[in-house]
Amino acid sequence: MSNRKIIANATIVTPLGNSARKGHDMSELYTLENAFIFIEDGIIKCTGRMTDIDFLGLNGTAEWIDAKGRVVLPGFIDSHTHLVFGGFRPDEFSWRLKGDSYMSIMERGGGIQSTVNATRNTSKENLVEKAEWFIDRMIEMGVTTVEAKSGYGLDTPTELKMLEALSDLSNSPDRKVDIVVTFLGAHAIPKEFSGRTSEYCDVIISEMLPAVKDKAKFFDIFTEKNVFEIEDSRRLLKAAKEAGMKLKLHADEIVQLGGAELAAEMGAVSADHLLHISDEGIRRMAEEGVVATLLPPTAFALKEPYAPARKMIEGGCAVALATDLNPGSCFSGSIPLTISLACIYMNMTIEEVITALTLNGAAALDIADLTGSIEAGKQADLVILDFPNINFLPYYVGMNCVNTTIHHGNIVYQRNGIKG
Ligand code: NIG
Ligand code: FE
Repeated sequence: MSNRKIIANATIVTPLGNSARKGHDMSELYTLENAFIFIEDGIIKCTGRMTDIDFLGLNGTAEWIDAKGRVVLPGFIDSHTHLVFGGFRPDEFSWRLKGDSYMSIMERGGGIQSTVNATRNTSKENLVEKAEWFIDRMIEMGVTTVEAKSGYGLDTPTELKMLEALSDLSNSPDRKVDIVVTFLGAHAIPKEFSGRTSEYCDVIISEMLPAVKDKAKFFDIFTEKNVFEIEDSRRLLKAAKEAGMKLKLHADEIVQLGGAELAAEMGAVSADHLLHISDEGIRRMAEEGVVATLLPPTAFALKEPYAPARKMIEGGCAVALATDLNPGSCFSGSIPLTISLACIYMNMTIEEVITALTLNGAAALDIADLTGSIEAGKQADLVILDFPNINFLPYYVGMNCVNTTIHHGNIVYQRNGIKG
């Protein structure tokens, strides 16, 4: 007997499609009030009006979840996180508050290297346990898919340990989110290769890529001045592509280096951060259909200018939003904060923000055919809000509007039932 569920009395709000929505199409959402969603074995079978529900002929064979008129959205997709890491870096945050910069801390051997030291000394089991704590916070905020990177090992055994931790999380029987895995061995130059960037690139290509290529879907790189500059990045991205991996870049985060242009040249699925993207970078990304994944909590935490989201949308880019949860530049996995910052400081409309956190987030992970919208055939990854109107999302500033999170048709989080 199949497992059947009905989400009843829903106000469905969703983007539509199996690929990223670009430019002004991001603001087109489909809305259906007094609606139902019929789910069978974790897949959306159909949606319709409550007045037509009898035509399904279910005769009490489906579990009934009453949304009581509240908004039902596709589950949120946090398409850029560094979910697995050893240690924490609260001291660096306090140094930055006193005027230190992110890059100067990194150049002194702190920053990413500090988390690398801690991660090398943490067991896989402890990494998994810590990540589970963050996943529990994420599902409370409506996240049903999370992208997670390695990149705090920077040697083959520790990178593999991180990827194994992610595989354990992903294959756990009580898994509450889908996890998309990214290899980020090119996150920094490890201290043992200081001043020998090209040799570290050789190690990534000859030793790491063969070991990780079947354990991660994406290859990501921190393309940045004094980290992996354009030539090294191009060489690594080409090798990763040849190894069959899909590409992502941390691009134009701290300075304008041409990372967005490189992402377009290499056919990357997404380029992320983009605080300092050039006009040419916007044009090229729109042309090549590279998703622009913007991470407003990072700009906020680093006191940097926000990425020019409006310019990108007007220029025809597909914009996704994500949190960048990590122990350094952005120790926050807050979806509510991401929504409010995007609306208040990046001048995105709430409709664009919803598309950016759902369908376009899925496209940034190359899974828009599976999830990211409420449509027949897609995974039943859904969020029921506490409110009947999407305008509450940015208006309830930095606060959680999620009442219920549904992952593959199962309730994985619910706060005190739904108030009448
Ligand atoms: O997305 N900039 C590079 N990587 C991360 C930060 C990692 C860290 O500081 O630990 C980012 O901002
Ligand atoms: Fe990042």
